[in-house]
Amino acid sequence: MAKEKNSQKDLYSLGAVVEPLCLWYDRHKRSMPWRDAPSPYHVWLSEIMLQQTRIEAVKAYYERFIERLPDIEALAQVSGEELLKLWEGLGYYNRTRNLQKAAKVVMERYDGRLPADYDLLLTLPGIGSYTAGAIASIAYGIAAPAVDGNVLRVGMRYLGKKDDISKISVRKKMERSILAVIPRDKPGDFNQAVMELGEVICIPNGAPLCDDCPLAGGCRAKKRGNQAELPVKPEKKGRRREKRTLLILEREGRIGIVRRKPSGLLAGLWEFPSMEGHLSLPDIRRLLKQKEAPSAGIRRLEDGKHIFSHVEWHMRGYHILLSSGEPQDIVPDIVWAGKEELEKKYAVPVAFHSFLRQIIR
Ligand code: ADE
Repeated sequence: MAKEKNSQKDLYSLGAVVEPLCLWYDRHKRSMPWRDAPSPYHVWLSEIMLQQTRIEAVKAYYERFIERLPDIEALAQVSGEELLKLWEGLGYYNRTRNLQKAAKVVMERYDGRLPADYDLLLTLPGIGSYTAGAIASIAYGIAAPAVDGNVLRVGMRYLGKKDDISKISVRKKMERSILAVIPRDKPGDFNQAVMELGEVICIPNGAPLCDDCPLAGGCRAKKRGNQAELPVKPEKKGRRREKRTLLILEREGRIGIVRRKPSGLLAGLWEFPSMEGHLSLPDIRRLLKQKEAPSAGIRRLEDGKHIFSHVEWHMRGYHILLSSGEPQDIVPDIVWAGKEELEKKYAVPVAFHSFLRQIIR
């Protein structure tokens, strides 16, 4: 009974944010390329890109992507290799594979148009409740919630709630609450207003800018002074550290690359042959001798480091000039790519770019 009362009170409080928030958004919304022409395809693509990268960084990717693949049909048809190349640098490459899978379904089942239906959107690969809600509300004006991390932060602070936001049940509850108050005449603006408030005012890590917040008057966290403690989420587990040695093999001006496994981290992308641990220069010489691969020179490159969500790679790299002649069978399935192909054709994850820069001048 007490719980029911509480949530009625919460809904009442949330209802009071609609008007000041929408007014604030009208005045302060930032210009974004996908906002000028919010077609369902544009909204979908931008939301998937924004799940992993800051707005400013996404803009250039988005524009290049749309120029090359202006509609869902083009996305369904592009080669997997070119798609990965267009996505290079955005990370989480499964998202782009799902994007294409969904585009194919949309071509087959819906005549090339994303369905204007929240539940049908949810059935498409890679579209979860956040993305379905964003497409439905922004592109089709359907009253559907789009709850991401920003919205959870704003909501939990405003309501002064200490529930763990990593729990699905907490997100679902927030979705239901938003559905109850979302304005039926501008659901897309409302959803974007909450996200935007979370991005520019009610920011994570460090002090939110409460003096500029249109919701400060009713915010329970502000009243109690515990903004910095909200929202509550469990500590992240520490990352695993992995040491790797990269062999950047060059023969006749071409660089040897191999494809990563078809599943797991950076699946299907291209990389330099590598091995576990940090090998010394004598180790490398021994290895080349074993493989009967005479080298004309070996240079140790500057170390590189890349941080993923669960693992850190600490990389040592050697640039090895192989003597010309028959391609040596040093590494199975190696492809010898020209330097221009490395830039334009093969998708090489950002983790390796610092090494690429050292060999391509
Ligand atoms: N963050 C992710 N999607 C957004 C959108 N549509 N508007 C503002 N911020 C966002």
